Amino acid sequence: MMNKMTVCRVAGLALVVAFAFTAAAFAQDATYVGNSQCKICHNKKEEGEQWTKWKAEAHSQAFAKLSSDEAKAVATKAGVTKPPAEAPECLQCHVTAADPATGKCPEKIQPADGVQCESCHGPASAHTAEGKKFKGGDKTAEPAKKILKSTAETCKKCHNEKNPTAKAGEAFDFDKMWAKINHSNPAKAKK
Ligand code: HEC
Ligand code: HEC
Ligand code: HEC
Ligand code: HEC
Repeated sequence: MMNKMTVCRVAGLALVVAFAFTAAAFAQDATYVGNSQCKICHNKKEEGEQWTKWKAEAHSQAFAKLSSDEAKAVATKAGVTKPPAEAPECLQCHVTAADPATGKCPEKIQPADGVQCESCHGPASAHTAEGKKFKGGDKTAEPAKKILKSTAETCKKCHNEKNPTAKAGEAFDFDKMWAKINHSNPAKAKK
């Protein structure tokens, strides 16, 4: 039992490192732009209304939830003395790209937006620039190559045993959890 746990932890760490590398490969110079940018191009009903769906699901409320009585109780139990909405220990998973030491977000990221698009798709300035070229008629532009493909490993950056509300022994079930926030493009699925 102990051994299995240790193996899991080590594998988990390797995956986190692998994720950081994949992100770095395309996003070297990319910076965070904020979800209002994504809304401009990714909110058409026939293409999956990604922004509207995100706004209606739990991730967009992840920061707001830190001000609830439930959050205060979780913090007290975890030995966190600051109010949860100001504590780096909580912000690291409840907002986008928070500095784990200070809890501060990059310039264009509003903490109030909680876990937004770039938490899962990575910093997107290079993608939005390429998307603008594409929309402007440059068919050599390849926006899809400049954005992170999100996988189960992306989710496990936060959905892991360090989450103080996690139920002991409950593994993250990607298929079940993705089904709850699925925002695929139906036009592509038909092809
Ligand atoms: C100026 C328009 C534009 C903006 C702004 C934009 N995108 Fe895109 N995005 C595109 C285009 C064009 C594509 C390629 C066509 C497609 O797959 O829908 C694309 C594709 C994607 C894909 C799918 C990649 C794939 O593998 O098929 C993701 C994910 C994505 N964008 C996320 C984002 C996020 C997150 C933001 C905001 C940070 C954003 N986009 C902002 C135009 C844009
Ligand atoms: C390692 C990442 C991580 C950290 C650190 C973390 N959380 Fe969370 N938190 C999550 C995840 C993931 C969920 C959603 C769990 C689920 O339902 O699958 C969650 C859910 C919650 C919920 C329940 C929200 C609801 O909708 O009812 C509360 C309250 C909460 N967290 C408070 C806190 C507080 C307070 C802290 C700091 C002491 C904290 N969290 C730190 C990842 C984290
Ligand atoms: C940056 C941290 C972070 C990442 C990355 C992340 N989540 Fe979450 N997730 C959270 C937090 C925090 C909550 C709780 C939000 C709340 O209840 O207000 C949550 C809640 C959820 C919920 C709703 C609660 C439930 O149990 O039904 C689902 C579904 C979910 N996440 C799925 C995913 C999936 C799928 C991925 C990967 C594609 C993912 N998450 C990636 C932090 C994250
Ligand atoms: C909790 C993680 C998470 C968040 C938050 C999130 N996405 Fe995604 N997104 C995914 C996953 C997982 C996929 C499926 C794999 C992939 O294509 O990257 C996906 C797919 C997509 C696609 C491709 C759809 C297709 O079928 O071609 C687009 C476009 C997209 N997301 C845009 C957005 C935008 C815009 C936001 C914010 C409004 C957002 N996503 C928020 C995890 C997330």
